Amino acid sequence: MNSKQDKIDKLNERIALSKLGGGQQRIDKQHANKKLTARERVNYLLDEGSFEEIGALVTHRTTDFGMEDQIIYGDGVITGYGTISGRLVYVYAQDFTVFGGSLSETHAEKICKIMDMAVKVGAPIIGLNDSGGARIQEGVRSLGGYADIFFRNVQASGVIPQISAIMGPCAGGAVYSPAMTDFIIMVEETSYMFVTGPNVVKTVTNEEVTSEALGGAQTHASKSGVAHKTSMNDVACLEDIKKLLPYLPQNNTEKPTELDYDLKDEVREVLSDIVPDNPNKPYDMHEVISGIIDNDSFYEIHKDFAENIIVGFARLGGKSIGIVANQPMAFAGVLDVNSSKKAARFVRFCDCFNIPLLVLVDVPGFLPGTDQEWNGIIVHGAKLLYALSEASVPRVTVITRKAYGGAYDVMNSKHIGADFNFSWPGAEIAVMGAKGASEIIFRREIASAKNPEEKLAEKEAEYAAKFANPYRAAKRGFIDEVILPKNTRRKLLKAFTSLENKVVDLPKRKHGNIPL
Ligand code: HXC
Repeated sequence: MNSKQDKIDKLNERIALSKLGGGQQRIDKQHANKKLTARERVNYLLDEGSFEEIGALVTHRTTDFGMEDQIIYGDGVITGYGTISGRLVYVYAQDFTVFGGSLSETHAEKICKIMDMAVKVGAPIIGLNDSGGARIQEGVRSLGGYADIFFRNVQASGVIPQISAIMGPCAGGAVYSPAMTDFIIMVEETSYMFVTGPNVVKTVTNEEVTSEALGGAQTHASKSGVAHKTSMNDVACLEDIKKLLPYLPQNNTEKPTELDYDLKDEVREVLSDIVPDNPNKPYDMHEVISGIIDNDSFYEIHKDFAENIIVGFARLGGKSIGIVANQPMAFAGVLDVNSSKKAARFVRFCDCFNIPLLVLVDVPGFLPGTDQEWNGIIVHGAKLLYALSEASVPRVTVITRKAYGGAYDVMNSKHIGADFNFSWPGAEIAVMGAKGASEIIFRREIASAKNPEEKLAEKEAEYAAKFANPYRAAKRGFIDEVILPKNTRRKLLKAFTSLENKVVDLPKRKHGNIPL
């Protein structure tokens, strides 16, 4: 009969084996590739000593290709829960040292189990992905495992925040789990995501491309917009997750945690000198944002993608808010396909998770041209219009300069349900700029004038005097108040406080049909 000590030794032996994953040699290879191991990642991410592992002794059930002799406890993924700054989170981390982190039926079951638990208790789920994809020795069972995860991603969407870190390969259909989560953060140089890799691309299209160019972090952060953020290495990526989390609530029934904040004199003179007198001169909307929010509290999302619109989280009087802002520094802040998609997705996230929205407007309109029309600016622009129109969180707008044409409507106008609409005194709220407008409505008069250029300037000035100001909109109540820039922060603090208990009765329906 085994002694008590034997039993304890057997358990300890199994746990030690599970902790070793694919063995020291593969761990060394992981380190040589500038990557932390799955366990090191989990330990770095979570508060010290807080991780509780679930399923450390799970093994695969495959008997093909000699797999019955290759049993590794944990089966290539570490799953469990712990805390980040005291907040409960559920985590899975794929272990590349075990069959390349590939996903077997049991590996998928482990992930599904903690996803279910995260939803049940209403806590965020964080996935640290580093995997060679479907476990090749398993075939369709592994594909089924992926689909089980995809299904749960969708069930959890809008219920708990889902964050994906891509810290190694992520290829084939495997990309679709991260794609259905709320945020994707990719590690530079060591991670990539693509539906098919360079070899298949070469075979099918004869195009030669590296993994990095096809689906590396920079590619997805700047070209495709698949990645919301990039981090220079594993540690930076885990830090980025830790910084993001405090802006988010635990689940859709809660509000994000407030930080202590003592209201002082909230006048910010710095805001008075940002917008240039010349309406065509660019300025950096980031300066407006930092002039308004609590010091150094901006966490930008999608920084390198569609730079003509800025989105991100910030704190205002200690409370978490989402900011959507046109950026006059990039393409004059025009709305186009990518900026509309980027902002719409962000707005929907904030609305799911009770994060109030601040919209800063300086927009000359939608970008004209065949490129935009053929790429569907009509349907993509409609996404932002739709997302803002349906958002029931507190919504406040500040027009800093231009609000022209359809873009005026789209950018959180009163007409689509914004709660407070402020404007700075120099704002121009009109169908279009004075020059373009005069060229159209005074075309005949200008053409028949002795000096057409002089006439155009005269008409432009006439039009500008009438429309290049916020007062017509204020007269109609489309703007609630024209405010001095330096008072913006104070106004917003009061406006958002007054909206804290906002309730909106939404029409009964299964779901709307956002133009996808
Ligand atoms: C089983 C795998 C594996 C996989 C890697 N390994 N991928 N085992 N199934 N999918 C194993 C390797 O055999 C090796 O085992 C170890 O993991 C490390 O792999 P290496 O090739 O040595 O590492 P590296 O050179 O860094 O290359 C990594 C890699 C490459 C680029 C990911 O391994 C690779 O191309 N793997 C196959 C990728 C793939 O085609 N997956 C299926 C995609 S289709 P040892 O014992 O030597 O350490 C898919 C469909 C999903 O995923 C559909 C969802 C709907």
